[in-house]
Parts: sequence; structure tokens; C-alpha cells
Amino acid sequence: MTHRIIAGGTGFIGQYLVKKWLQAGIEVTIIGRSLKKIQRMYGDTVNAVTWDELPTVSQTLFRNVELVLNLAGANIGSARWSVARKNLILESRTHTTQQLCELLALLGDKAPTLYNASAVGIYGLATHPTQQLPPAVDEDTPIAFQTYPDFLSTVARQWEFATHASKAHGVYVLNLRFGVVLGHGGGALSRLLPSFRLGLGGPIGDGNQAFSWIHIDDLANIIEFLLQHPEVHGAVNIVAPECVNQRTFAKTLGKVLHRPTCLKTPAWVLHLAFGDMADELLLSGQHVKPKRLEALAYPFQYPRLLDALTECIKGK
Ligand SMILES: NC(=O)c1ccc[n+]([C@@H]2O[C@H](COP(=O)([O-])OP(=O)(O)OC[C@H]3O[C@@H](n4cnc5c(N)ncnc54)[C@H](OP(=O)(O)O)[C@@H]3O)[C@@H](O)[C@H]2O)c1
Repeated sequence: MTHRIIAGGTGFIGQYLVKKWLQAGIEVTIIGRSLKKIQRMYGDTVNAVTWDELPTVSQTLFRNVELVLNLAGANIGSARWSVARKNLILESRTHTTQQLCELLALLGDKAPTLYNASAVGIYGLATHPTQQLPPAVDEDTPIAFQTYPDFLSTVARQWEFATHASKAHGVYVLNLRFGVVLGHGGGALSRLLPSFRLGLGGPIGDGNQAFSWIHIDDLANIIEFLLQHPEVHGAVNIVAPECVNQRTFAKTLGKVLHRPTCLKTPAWVLHLAFGDMADELLLSGQHVKPKRLEALAYPFQYPRLLDALTECIKGK
């Protein structure tokens, strides 16, 4: 029986994947902070291990495992970015990744494959004064610290960097750079839907910021696809081919919901409400291309935003 391990399996993406994997007859072990939380969510359908227990059980646990998927990290958009919150966002990613990588490195090239979450924020902030999207970036675009000093880029670079030592020990690692993940019942869409359903949604700031996204079904299928392509190394952008600006995103969501989207939210209101977080999460974005996936001819199920949003809303 195929066995996969997932860290952060209780979150939005994790819950979707665990359900899918269990349906496919895959044995699943979840690494998390609380056994009770995992058991409350999944009962005895999964195995559960805490981060504290991991060092004592890892050498047995990692045997005959096909994949370790690490999604763990404090949620980026759920609380205002105080200094303490920023430290938590960073350290909850780098520490969990380091712990996993150190344990996997002990097994060297006998270690299971590690797919470690990352984000398109790594490419740095791109504000753009016109309605045209900014120039696209892809996995081959150099990421220069001096050019992208913003918080999310720093977090993602350190998150990916934390996997490098294990790569040097022979562990096969992919860094999955997720765009905004669209799916039912969680993530960015669940935060946006209440206001859009009331007809209060619309462009944020000037609406020109790029919005790179992926439907959660594609995210799940891409994981299966990449497992069949061990020739891929390094970073993989997990985004749909059609990037839009935020104005188009708002308009498309309004269209799917049959609601107007004329209400603009000025940038200053967002600054007041969310501080730095508004600049990085809401008022800027990245135009990211899935170059590796396109080179491998991955067949996107939802290449177009309209279809992706229609499916997400229909599934509610
Ligand atoms: N959703 C998106 O649109 C998106 C886009 C780009 C990147 N990503 C990245 O993909 C990963 C998964 O996303 P998601 O939306 O599923 O996130 P999520 O719903 O916030 O879940 C993340 C999981 O991380 C664990 N976690 C939370 N705080 C933690 C802490 N302080 N220390 C260690 N673990 C902690 C939790 O599991 P336990 O409580 O069981 O420990 C939680 O279930 C995240 O790292 C996120 O940054 C997501």
C-alpha cells in the first residue's frame, strides 16, 4: 500500500489532499502540532505524529514512504503582521522544514521524496501602474535579495533555503511555489466571498496588481504528475497559465456570482486596516508562468479563471 506523509495536513490544502489520498486507498500519516486536533478531524483514518515525537519515530516512519509533503506554517493572512506575527510566519516554516530535512538527510538517497511548500511571493513585489500585466517571471528568473527585500519574498527564500542542505545529502526535494489556491471552503476565496456575495466586492487599490492562481484540483493533480517526472529538480511554479490582474479577478468573480463589482476599496483603507500586510498580500502581486509544467505538457484542468471560479462556486 502506498504511504504518504503530510505536515500541515489539517489546513485548507492539506484537508483537501488527505481526503483525496484516502479515497485513492493511500495510507496517510499527518505530522502536526496536536494529536487531538488531527484525531478530531480524521478519527482513525490517518496515522498521527507530533513534531515533538518525530525525531524518535522518523527512521521507522520514513521507511517505504513514497512522499513527504510539507505544508506547515502559520497562516499568512489571518492576523495583522506585528513583529511577533512576522517571526512566527517565518520560523514556523523554516523550523519545521529544517527539522524534516535534517531527519531525511540521515537517510540520504534512501530518503523519501520531499515536496516542500513555497509561494510565488518569492519573486518579490511587482506593483504596476498600467492595466497591462507586468513582465512574467518563471522558475529561471534570478531572485536577487537586493531587488526583493519585502517580507514574503524573504520568507519564501529562507523557506526554500532550509531545504538545500538535505539536497546536498542526496534527498530528492521539490520546492512547490504555489500561487493563490482557489477551492471550496477555505483559502483566499472564502475570505473574499462574503463581500462579493453582498455585491460589495470590486477592485482593490488600482486593481492593476497581478494575480497568479491555481485551482486546488490542479494542485492535487500536479502532485501526482510530478511524482511521475523524477527528472524535474528544484522549484516548480504551481500556477495556472492564465494570470490576470486583480480588477479582472474581481470582475470574473462578480460574473460567476451574478453580482456587481463596482465598489473599489482604496489602498489607504487597506493600509489602515492591515498595515504592511495590505501592501504585500493585497496591493501587489506577481505575474508568474508555470514554465516547468508547460515544458512537461501538464494538462491543466482549469487553465482559465472563469472555469476555475465557476467550479469553486458551484461546489459550495
Ligand atoms: N492557500 C494558498 O493560497 C497558498 C498560497 C501560497 C502558499 N501557500 C502555502 O501552502 C501551505 C499550506 O497552505 P494552506 O492554505 O493549507 O495553509 P493553512 O490552512 O493555514 O494550514 C497550514 C497548516 O500549518 C500548520 N501550522 C499552523 N501554524 C503553525 C505553526 N505555528 N507551526 C507549525 N505548523 C503550523 C497547521 O497544522 P497543525 O495545526 O496540524 O500543526 C495548519 O493546518 C502554507 O505554508 C502556505 O503558506 C498557500
